[in-house]
Amino acid sequence: MAKTDKDQTIKIKTADEIAKMRVAGKLAAEVLEMIAEHVKPGISTAQLDRICHDYIVNVQQAIPAPLGYGTPPFPKSICTSVNHVICHGIPSDKILKKGDVLNIDITVIKDGYHGDTSKMFFIGEPPIAGKRLSEITQQCMYLGIKQVRPGASMGDIGRAIQKHAHANHYSVVEEFCGHGIGSRFHEAPQILHYYHKDSDKIVMQPGMIFTIEPMINQGKRHLKILPDQWTAVTKDHKLSAQWEHTVLVTQDGFEILTLRQEEAGWQERL
Ligand code: MF3
Ligand code: CO
Ligand code: CO
Repeated sequence: MAKTDKDQTIKIKTADEIAKMRVAGKLAAEVLEMIAEHVKPGISTAQLDRICHDYIVNVQQAIPAPLGYGTPPFPKSICTSVNHVICHGIPSDKILKKGDVLNIDITVIKDGYHGDTSKMFFIGEPPIAGKRLSEITQQCMYLGIKQVRPGASMGDIGRAIQKHAHANHYSVVEEFCGHGIGSRFHEAPQILHYYHKDSDKIVMQPGMIFTIEPMINQGKRHLKILPDQWTAVTKDHKLSAQWEHTVLVTQDGFEILTLRQEEAGWQERL
């Protein structure tokens, strides 16, 4: 999300809301699982959008949150960010080709609650630089998630992510951040993916739910927004990667609400 927000109240979710967020999160994860077999050379991002849209609406009987969201209204149901696109890429007739690296970001609304998650896909064999950037970015997300427990601060998340990105000579995008999520798509607090001392003031409590969604660049962190007012691209046109999960603060740690089957055992592999 963009770094502006009005209501700064951090909502502690009730047991009933958490149950609904688990359902929404699972559905969002299942869209990423469903779309994987379609991500191959020759398909357009608009076709991927259509498949996801129809699955969310007809099979899941849920709502694709991006469609009509924001100003100007986002025109599609998913975000597809290819190669040097950092985030908020708009699905189009652009055909995916071997060597492309792609982020698909899915947000569904079910029973009034949101699940938000994204992952990287490779079209054919990935270039070694794209594969490495994607892997390090996923590790950044997991290292951020591992900070989550009651009493930890949002600063701990940003510090862990920034440390790992910089150790690998990558940069962290600062203009977009993770966010509280619930009955609204984007709510307080903002989760910065780099360290800032103000983030230390926000302390995690059981029942908070927010996203962690680092955007990591191969080159410099700087971006520009295209005239469509959504698509964010790297200024230097080098690659960017992003992974996202929706995370609940539990009594003794965290629960990933958007975990996919392929991620089982991720902590042992980290
Ligand atoms: N899913 C994005 C996020 O992680 C937000 C997309 S806003 C949209 O916060 F309008 F582009 F869909
Ligand atoms: Co998000
Ligand atoms: Co998202």
